[in-house]
Order: sequence, then structure tokens, then C-alpha cells
Amino acid sequence: MNMDAVEFKGISKSFGKRRVLDGLDLHIPQGKITFILGKSGEGKSVTIKHIMGLLKPDAGQIIVDGEDIVGKTKEEFRQYRKKFGMLFQHAALFDSMTVGENVLFPLVEHHRTSMQTMLTRVEEVLAQVGLPNIQHKYPTELSTGEKKRVGLARALVTKPHIILYDEPTTGMDPLVSEMIDGLIVQMSKEEQDLTSIVISHDLKAALQTAEYIVFLYQGKVALAGTPAAFRAAKDPVVRQFFSGKVEGPMEFL
Ligand SMILES: Nc1ncnc2c1ncn2[C@@H]1O[C@H](COP(=O)(O)OP(=O)(O)OP(=O)(O)O)[C@@H](O)[C@H]1O
Ligand SMILES: [Mg+2]
Repeated sequence: MNMDAVEFKGISKSFGKRRVLDGLDLHIPQGKITFILGKSGEGKSVTIKHIMGLLKPDAGQIIVDGEDIVGKTKEEFRQYRKKFGMLFQHAALFDSMTVGENVLFPLVEHHRTSMQTMLTRVEEVLAQVGLPNIQHKYPTELSTGEKKRVGLARALVTKPHIILYDEPTTGMDPLVSEMIDGLIVQMSKEEQDLTSIVISHDLKAALQTAEYIVFLYQGKVALAGTPAAFRAAKDPVVRQFFSGKVEGPMEFL
């Protein structure tokens, strides 16, 4: 069945006088890699925060795995967030903990299984991101790319339903960026039914990596579709984003 992992129906959100999301209708297909694109300040992070229940919309419905999440209680949100893995822009590892302890951390928080089972899972997920046998190292001993991979292992260790990547490659050198994009694809293939949501400025990566792209502009979806649909798009705002030019119909606030 072709279900959406996440659906926004008429989501509006303002901060003071600024309306960031303006009746946003959004579909994120299940089991695929979706890139959310948009220029800085268009509400990409605000959108992700709504999906995770960290922000409450002023109006509209947010359906995740068939369930309207708006109006959940604090305790219900705590349970709900176990669905997600999150890879932050800066890997955000705990420097005082070893790699193994970093990856173990969410398991201990979320799951009540034996320590042996959890340690086996830590080994398994580190091998999956191509870093076997580094559990005893500390984050300061790792390269930027390795830190990212450990961050990815930590995001995946609980076998989340949905993984969120907020600007996973911004500020990385091209080789590391390509490696991360490759891992996003690899993880999506290996983990059955995993929905990957990637926030990005990187149009080139989106065209290569995404199966579905959502382009946000002025609080709404300007265009959503496959990379092929984006390549063929005639919409002047989308074309301007593609060209990277300041001149055009797109307004910079
Ligand atoms: N908690 C908040 N309080 C007030 N304003 C906020 C808050 N969170 C976000 N905003 C505003 O909402 C707008 C969208 O922010 P958001 O962080 O979603 O942008 P973005 O698309 O992720 O941009 P970037 O690409 O720079 O990360 C910005 O104008 C921002 O200042
Ligand atoms: Mg952001």
C-alpha cells in the first residue's frame, strides 16, 4: 500500500507576526528518502519540529503513521518520539563517553532489554555504518566523517521508523558529503520500511539521493515530486532555486 509516513493538513504556525507555515499541506511517503528543500528561514527546521511534536501548530492536523498527533499529552509525546532517530547537523556526540557508550545511550533510555542484547546491537549498527571495533575510542579521536557515522549509528540503534537528518552534509567537504549521502541511501535500503527525511540546501545531493522532494516557499509547498519532476519544473521560483541566482521572483526577507 502506498501510505504516507507523515501528512500535514493545513498546518499554520506563526511566531509573533511572522507566519512561517501558512496552511501547509505536505505528504512524506513511507519507506522512501524525502528531501525537504527551501532557502534559509523558510521553515524547514520548524516543519521537522512539528513532526517530532516539539512545536504545536496554530491550526491543522499532523498525521503520522495514520494517527493525528496534535493534542497528544506530554507523556504520549515521550512515547511517540521513540519512533524517531535524529542525526543532528553537528554529530553532537558526548565527548566524555566512548563511541560505544554514545551509541548505547538511546538504547538504555528507550528499551528495556538485557545489557548483552543491547551491546550486541551496538556492535551490529557500528559495523553497518562501516566502523567496527572502534567502541573504545573517544569522539575527539575521530575524524569529522567518522563522527558523523557514529551519529548515524546512534540515530539508528533503536531501529526507528523514521529518521530525520537536519542538514547532514552542510559544512562537510565533498568527499565526506558524498559518503554521508551514500550512507543515507544504504541505510534506507537495508532497513525495511525506514522513512528517511532529509533537510537540505543541497539541490545536487537531493537530485542524486532523494526519491521524493518537497520544496517549501512562503509557508507552503511550491513543488513536490520526484527528482525527474524537479529537473523538468518550469516554475520560476523553483528554477531560481536551481540556478542559485539572487535575481528572480523569489523574495529574500
Ligand atoms: N522558537 C521560535 N521562536 C520564534 N521564531 C522562530 C522560532 N523557531 C523558528 N522561528 C522563525 O521561523 C522561521 C523559520 O525558521 P527555521 O529554523 O524553520 O528555518 P529553516 O528553513 O530551517 O532555515 P535554515 O536553512 O537557516 O536552517 C525563521 O524566521 C525563524 O526565525
Ligand atoms: Mg534549519
